[in-house]
Amino acid sequence: MSLIDLRSDTVTRPTPEMRRAMAEAEVGDDVFGDDPTVNALEERAAEITGMEGGLFVASGSMGNLVSLVAHVPRGGEIIAEAESHTLMDEQAGHAVIVGASARGIPARPDGTMDPLLVDRAFRNPLDLHEPRTALIVLENTHAHSMGQPLTPAYTAEIAAIAHGHGVPLHVDGARLFNAAVALGVRASDLLAPADSATFCLSKGLACPIGSVVVGAGGFIARARRARKLVGGGMRQVGIVAAAGLVALRDGPAGMIERLAEDHENARILAHALASMPGIAGLDPERTATNFVVFGIRAADPAGPAGALSPRELRDRFLEELRAEGVLMVEYPHDTIRAVTHYGVTAAEIERVVSACRAALARCGAASAPATPAA
Ligand SMILES: Cc1ncc(COP(=O)(O)O)c(C=O)c1O
Repeated sequence: MSLIDLRSDTVTRPTPEMRRAMAEAEVGDDVFGDDPTVNALEERAAEITGMEGGLFVASGSMGNLVSLVAHVPRGGEIIAEAESHTLMDEQAGHAVIVGASARGIPARPDGTMDPLLVDRAFRNPLDLHEPRTALIVLENTHAHSMGQPLTPAYTAEIAAIAHGHGVPLHVDGARLFNAAVALGVRASDLLAPADSATFCLSKGLACPIGSVVVGAGGFIARARRARKLVGGGMRQVGIVAAAGLVALRDGPAGMIERLAEDHENARILAHALASMPGIAGLDPERTATNFVVFGIRAADPAGPAGALSPRELRDRFLEELRAEGVLMVEYPHDTIRAVTHYGVTAAEIERVVSACRAALARCGAASAPATPAA
């Protein structure tokens, strides 16, 4: 039985077309600016996001890090969502490498931060005691709110606050194209109010490696220096960039349009899960992109599963699910994340649903107490 891996969209494998493009890529030394395939990818990334320039980097984390180095002076402060990848999952690169402090603002269920709280989080630049706010970071799609896409109007509202205080707005668009497809807008519409962004090729777009930082020319020049600082200057890296050029093609030849299939599969999965006793905290109507996040509870609190903590029950469910040939991953607050992606078909989603039903039964979370007859 083959495994169905829904831990992340990073597990995607390159398409046959990507492998061909990689094998045949024209290359050069990219630190000298000589790799024509990297240059073409950076130009294409700039074009599709409506920005002036692009910079190919090894990962989303590196993209965010070099963007912070380029925007934020040592001793500056960034404002970001409290559970964003930038603050929670990048080893505090803002502190370790940039020398910046951070203020986290909690997300609302739709993945946004309250603009009033964002505005209030700015430091007083005239107060000697305080650091200086130097950047706002938005995450689009917003992972911890189950992959909610942030609209161009919201991005514009936050950009206006940033610019009103004289600081730039960076978008961690690891899944920017999921947001664009979900909202039916162009990536360039999402980024028009922003000063810079990172987007990942190695997630739903199915490339093996890489992200692109986009922004104005001066910013890209500073980010390029920062990339060298963190050891990210690569050489004949057109071999990898070639896959990105395939991913960013327009229409069915590329990998952007097809993200709609992943969103539909996530919706089907969420609706099926939400109807199962034993699944907690899942409103399937909130499935906007390719994330499904849910908890496990004992449907019968008096049964054996009722004695387990939510975390123990979750871990047991994940083990049982693995035995059924399906992988999902632990997520914060004792929840589980399933991510749909290229390579997972609608038929496989049906198999996932049956596997979840079986795993719930085996970990004792499925059966609801019998309702006494009226
Ligand atoms: C929202 C978000 N930003 C940034 C990243 C970092 O990307 P990478 O794993 O390529 O460093 C991730 C990775 O999962 C992510 O989910």
